[in-house]
Amino acid sequence: MRPFTFGQSTAPGYGELLEKIEILRSTLRWATRLEREEIQRLLGQCNVLREDVMSLSRRERFVQSSAALEDLRAPPPEPAPTAEQRRAALLEREFTFDGVFGDNPKLLETLEIAEKAAPTDLPVLVRGESGTGKELLAKVVHTNGRRSEGPFVSVNCGAIPENLVESELFGHKKGAFTGAASDRKGKFESANLGTIFLDEIGELPLSGQVKLLRVLQSQEIQRVGSDSPIKIDARIVAATNRDLLAMVGTGQFREDLYYRLSVIEVTVPPLRERRDEIPLLIDFFCDAAAERLGRSPLRLSSRLRQFLLDYGFPGNIRELHNLIFRMSCLAGDTADLPHLPDALRSNPPSVRPSADAPLESEAPLSLSEVKKTAGDAAEKRFLEQGLREVNGRAVELARRQGMNRSHLQTLLKKHGLSAKAFRPKKA
Ligand SMILES: Nc1ncnc2c1ncn2[C@@H]1O[C@H](COP(=O)(O)OP(=O)(O)OP(=O)(O)O)[C@@H](O)[C@H]1O
Ligand SMILES: [Mg+2]
Repeated sequence: MRPFTFGQSTAPGYGELLEKIEILRSTLRWATRLEREEIQRLLGQCNVLREDVMSLSRRERFVQSSAALEDLRAPPPEPAPTAEQRRAALLEREFTFDGVFGDNPKLLETLEIAEKAAPTDLPVLVRGESGTGKELLAKVVHTNGRRSEGPFVSVNCGAIPENLVESELFGHKKGAFTGAASDRKGKFESANLGTIFLDEIGELPLSGQVKLLRVLQSQEIQRVGSDSPIKIDARIVAATNRDLLAMVGTGQFREDLYYRLSVIEVTVPPLRERRDEIPLLIDFFCDAAAERLGRSPLRLSSRLRQFLLDYGFPGNIRELHNLIFRMSCLAGDTADLPHLPDALRSNPPSVRPSADAPLESEAPLSLSEVKKTAGDAAEKRFLEQGLREVNGRAVELARRQGMNRSHLQTLLKKHGLSAKAFRPKKA
């Protein structure tokens, strides 16, 4: 067998990967006792293998998408995949995402766009309300692309005083201005060969916008106080919670910069438009908080869970994240309504209108929409009642109703119900 190294950087082929896996397997098969050092070495080899598989998968995706572009005689379109299939396909493609996602079609579309954008070098503009996960998505573009080994440098454009924008972004020479005590690299130089994330781009003052545009056009920067241009190879991802086109209309944002930044535009949906993800996020944050705080994962009383499922979340995922971390810190094993911040309990900002609410409080509905809403509400009540009767044992409920288990799970998810919440509390 030919020798190999585990440290090579180019993506290997399948044969080579299999060979490496076989060597690892036989090392482990014949090992009787492993020292810590040996375990570390094997772990290192596993990590390299994982990287290799990921880069192979990225290379394949790139080849596939190039081939798809060239193929003008595309076969007739296949039936659209279901949300479940789309999610599974993303996971199969080794899609890296530092969070959790379910079957919400809006979110899936966002992730799919980010995934497709990742291997290209095109600028991406991430739009979305505050706290929806814009920075997380920018990282998706970075981590799933060929620059994943390079730096990801985040700049909050809203937090830089106008007179320091140039120095912050492009760096300065010693003595360029009062206070410039030494040479300093700017964010663009730090992001070379990686990604620069221009957060809150809508807050960048017009003077900064002009300078940024010049750099994007020339792909060169000049440190303040220096005449020598420096070539920069950084991928641009920008984010905003503002309507940049409207700002273009009012002269607050340069149109040419807008079109340079928004070659690929992707919107992260607010949490109220992906409520079906709330149970997943709750579990994810309970686990994350448990790990951070060194405690067991927080449990939620059923009325608290219901409150969270109905709540409007004006602060989106960040708000849910903070609530769960706060309660994980303050509550014991199980959190209940009193553990919520007072302001939230006494005056929840925008609670989802209940399906039983009078119709005039909602936008006008067609007859079929009215029927659907009523049907959904009845279905939810039926499931809740059923779960109560079987003490939260979903398998038993499926058996009693002669229903397929996975169909029941789909229905529970649709209504944001967790069977666990209907289990009797331990004394
Ligand atoms: N799908 C998700 N799964 C897990 N955590 C998430 C998810 N989406 C967002 N988060 C978490 O929510 C918080 C807010 O996300 P992020 O900072 O990316 O949002 P943002 O849109 O950039 O917010 P802001 O507008 O306030 O800057 C972070 O803690 C992030 O890790
Ligand atoms: Mg942000």
